[in-house]
Amino acid sequence: MSACEEVVIDQAAASDVARNPIDEVIAGRLSCREFSGSPVSRSTVEQILRVARFAPSGANVQPWHVYVLAGAARAEVSAALLHAYETEPSAHVSEYQYYASEFPEPYLGRRREFGRLFYDSLGIAQSDTAARGRQTAKNFAFFGAPVGLIVTIDRRLAMGSWLDLGMFIQNVMLAAVGRGLQSCPQETFAKYHRILRPRLSIPAEQMVACGISMGHPKVPARRRLMPRADLEAFASFSGFEN
Ligand SMILES: Cc1cc2nc3c(=O)[nH]c(=O)nc-3n(C[C@H](O)[C@H](O)[C@H](O)COP(=O)(O)O)c2cc1C
Repeated sequence: MSACEEVVIDQAAASDVARNPIDEVIAGRLSCREFSGSPVSRSTVEQILRVARFAPSGANVQPWHVYVLAGAARAEVSAALLHAYETEPSAHVSEYQYYASEFPEPYLGRRREFGRLFYDSLGIAQSDTAARGRQTAKNFAFFGAPVGLIVTIDRRLAMGSWLDLGMFIQNVMLAAVGRGLQSCPQETFAKYHRILRPRLSIPAEQMVACGISMGHPKVPARRRLMPRADLEAFASFSGFEN
């Protein structure tokens, strides 16, 4: 069994797409929030980042920067973030707005479905603010993953470069799947740039975009939790003969 076969998650949902190794890797990625303790070597992370850098970027500007944390460095950052989250949660705000202030449909409905599926899967009532807070806190422990990435972008660039960054981040996560690993992209880290900046020596011109937890999933064959809209909901075709 190859490394990526171990993490092909949901054969039913993937049946439309998993016809070749690339499709299997794409369909096999999911946001993992429970990692086993087994370590990931520096050379594996280097391989992942080396291949991820082949992401396209407008004018090839490659606007990304990644801070890779493991061991004591990861633990120290986690502890500082957790402390900030627990003691001064409203003192930290992201330098960019990730979510719209108001969600129009169909996004509002999808967001509500996400909340219902996510908290149901964890046995947390949506009204249980304390339990939801404890789940959010797990973000800062990188969900137990041995490797945490903090991804930044140069703030002097424009919105187009965020497209490039997204492609790079997706490449990182797919390259992880190709090695039997899983990941979770996390905007939650962006709020805590004031904690991260001095600890990681992030220069002033870089903005914290997100974090990524990465490691071996605790449950290797976990099924995909989050559904996707059908093709008809997001694609319009013109000019094909059939
Ligand atoms: C840019 C970005 C930021 C995200 N931030 C978080 C986060 O802070 N915490 C978290 O648990 N999940 C986070 N997610 C994961 C999403 O909830 C997840 O991608 C979505 O529900 C679809 O599920 P899937 O990735 O398993 O297919 C983020 C995803 C993206 C793309």
